[in-house]
Amino acid sequence: MSTRNFEVMRKAYLLWGKLLLEAFQRGLEASQQRQSRVDIGSVIVCGMGGSGIVGDYAASLAYSKGSIPVYTVKSYTLPSWAAESLVVAVSFSGNTVETLNCYMRARQLARAVAVVASGGKLLKLAREHGITYVQTHHAPAARTAFASLLGGLLGLLEGLGVLEARGEVGYASALLSSEAGNAEAEAEKLAELVENRIPVFIACGAYEPLAWRAKNEFNENTKVQSWAEALPEWGHNGAEAWSRPIEPSRYIIIGFLDEEDKVCSSLVKHALETVRASGASTHMVKLLGQSLLAKMMWGTLVTGLASIVAARRRGVDPLETPKIKAYRAAVESLLAGEST
Ligand code: F6R
Repeated sequence: MSTRNFEVMRKAYLLWGKLLLEAFQRGLEASQQRQSRVDIGSVIVCGMGGSGIVGDYAASLAYSKGSIPVYTVKSYTLPSWAAESLVVAVSFSGNTVETLNCYMRARQLARAVAVVASGGKLLKLAREHGITYVQTHHAPAARTAFASLLGGLLGLLEGLGVLEARGEVGYASALLSSEAGNAEAEAEKLAELVENRIPVFIACGAYEPLAWRAKNEFNENTKVQSWAEALPEWGHNGAEAWSRPIEPSRYIIIGFLDEEDKVCSSLVKHALETVRASGASTHMVKLLGQSLLAKMMWGTLVTGLASIVAARRRGVDPLETPKIKAYRAAVESLLAGEST
């Protein structure tokens, strides 16, 4: 297999430090172009896959330090209470039918609407409708555009007075750039450990999106089954699966460790000890940095890079996603006509 696409993706991941800050600036500027600030009760981020996940990260930040809640909708509908909300439709391609549907519904229902996209139909509609939009950088795939999409969204939310992230973004951006080599070394180690195993990612509290994102990266890039688990909930159900596990040696459980968070780090350690005692392998990704955003971005970069290294080791192309293409065609024909 050619390693060309591996290199294309690797380069895109390694640009995250720079792109996070640039995109944040774009988001900030976009928020200031129009606007009359609006009175909103909540933010709904609509998006799928590599785009929708940035809503989960923003929701985590808002949960930890925001003044209004941020929810993520990964579907083609909006909740019945959307009338009080700002809806931000996020789609890297701008052509995802579920997100386009959300956008159209938001135009009818929501208090305010904004768009984060690199192009496509969504950006075109936002321009036509005079909607606030952030145009993000081009990238080989949505999942490699993570820093641009998240930066754009956070800039927008900062500018609209929803969430203050400027300092954290600057710090995370510098950390990702200065520690890129370190992240690659961690990723190589992780990819080696994951070989021929099914990775299960477990994170605690505010770090839950990290487990989902890592699972998605291994699904899409490495083309392996992978699962996400979240603590403390895991202790009330998932833990019991390790009483009589099927083929435990097939699994590697990867925990994310924030050493400063005493409760969460103890819970993650407890979970890893539990599964290790049942015959599964375990590994801990220590989260580098001094803020929630930096730690989340660090873990995201390490697992993203690990997923493409693991793809290379398996001899699969990390960029091509034929099953997602097939799914997109199927859902497009089902929802055809509803998004225009
Ligand atoms: C592709 C990827 C997918 C897409 C999803 C939605 O890299 O990660 O999960 O993100 O199919 O498409 P977009 O992001 O273009 O709205």
